[in-house]
Amino acid sequence: MINPLRGMKDLMFEDSQRFVHIITTAITVAKRYGYSYIETPILEETALFRRSVGDSSDIVSKEMYQFEDKGGNDVCMRPEGTAGVVRAFVSGKLDRQPAKQKFYYYGPMFRYERPQKGRLREFHQFGCESFGEASVYEDFTIITMVGQIFKALGIGFELKINSLGCPECMPPYKQNLVSFLTDISEDLCADCNRRIETNPIRVLDCKNEQCQSLLAQSPKLIDELCEACDTDFKKLTSLLDDAGIAYEVDTNLVRGLDYYNKTAFEFVSNEIGSQSAIAGGGRYDKLVEYLDGKPTPAVGFAIGAERIMELVQMPGREREGYYMGAMVPEAIEKIIMLANRKRTSDKVTVEYSSKGFKSHMKGVDKAHARYAVLIGEDELANNTVWIKDMESKEEKTVAYTV
Ligand code: HAM
Repeated sequence: MINPLRGMKDLMFEDSQRFVHIITTAITVAKRYGYSYIETPILEETALFRRSVGDSSDIVSKEMYQFEDKGGNDVCMRPEGTAGVVRAFVSGKLDRQPAKQKFYYYGPMFRYERPQKGRLREFHQFGCESFGEASVYEDFTIITMVGQIFKALGIGFELKINSLGCPECMPPYKQNLVSFLTDISEDLCADCNRRIETNPIRVLDCKNEQCQSLLAQSPKLIDELCEACDTDFKKLTSLLDDAGIAYEVDTNLVRGLDYYNKTAFEFVSNEIGSQSAIAGGGRYDKLVEYLDGKPTPAVGFAIGAERIMELVQMPGREREGYYMGAMVPEAIEKIIMLANRKRTSDKVTVEYSSKGFKSHMKGVDKAHARYAVLIGEDELANNTVWIKDMESKEEKTVAYTV
């Protein structure tokens, strides 16, 4: 028997219904905010992710599904959605148009991580990317949009925000951080020591408890932001305050992807165990340029569908459509014809074998149908069908023509 690969899952029944509910709810909200659908390839040139997510990130250095295709191209299954959308924005020459663009997308992402609860190798994101808007109002708007999606799904969350500065304030801060880290390097873990060289900001994100206690004294970028970044961050917090959206400023929130500047945020849930990030995002004003486009500010987010699957409150499932069955074999084909006609407008479940009344009524419940439609001996003789409305319990016999 061939099973799915480790860290990959089939979604069916209750799970696939939850999945569809998450995606359709998110689409409804994103459309209200003016986003339109974009679909980009799952397979892209590896260089795209190296240049955007960053060579030193865990995603690129350890977790990519990367291979050479039959034409000798170095390709990669996308580990996230932003890079592909930015690539599409640049290849479609949208960077040369003055109009602002907003895209939403959803689909599978691939990261070769160690699987555990809430951490898969194939998982699904719903994401939004907004291009051309430098104002911090857009950061605020994006955060409220994620909040609205979670609210519509009945999911509680905590919001963490930080500022990652800009090319003016980040480099001097990085220098301060490196000299602080070098002084305590003997007591930091091996991963942190490697990161001091490759990506010192990521040291702040280390999960090791000893490292975290040492890092409590580290310099904080939030205290060293340039005037423009500081003004925007203060604006963002005051807008969130005014909107009554609770948040925590988490100076260690650095995100696992290298393209961010200024606003970075994460939505976390304390109901799902250690993999608690249910959405993440932020501003990435330099990425379009890095990928050879014209400088274009941008901001976005992605929600992890599998992480919120168990948290989603599903709307009550109402009885829907018809169940049709025959109680004599001669009526089966009439039932099939009737069902096909009704399917032009309604959901119909059909039983192909002739059965007794009780057995059919069990089928009606199993199909969760609103109406039971049966043809027995009398109905067959009179060209009628028996119909019962399962909600009002009303029964009647009506004439029909096929
Ligand atoms: P990310 O934080 O890497 O950001 O992923 C976003 C969300 O995807 C996470 O918060 C989590 O819910 C889910 N996720 C990530 N990895 C896994 C996994 N292995 N298994 C299950 N769920 C997972 C991004 O991907 C950015 N592209 C978000 C973004 C869009 N930033 C700007 N625009």
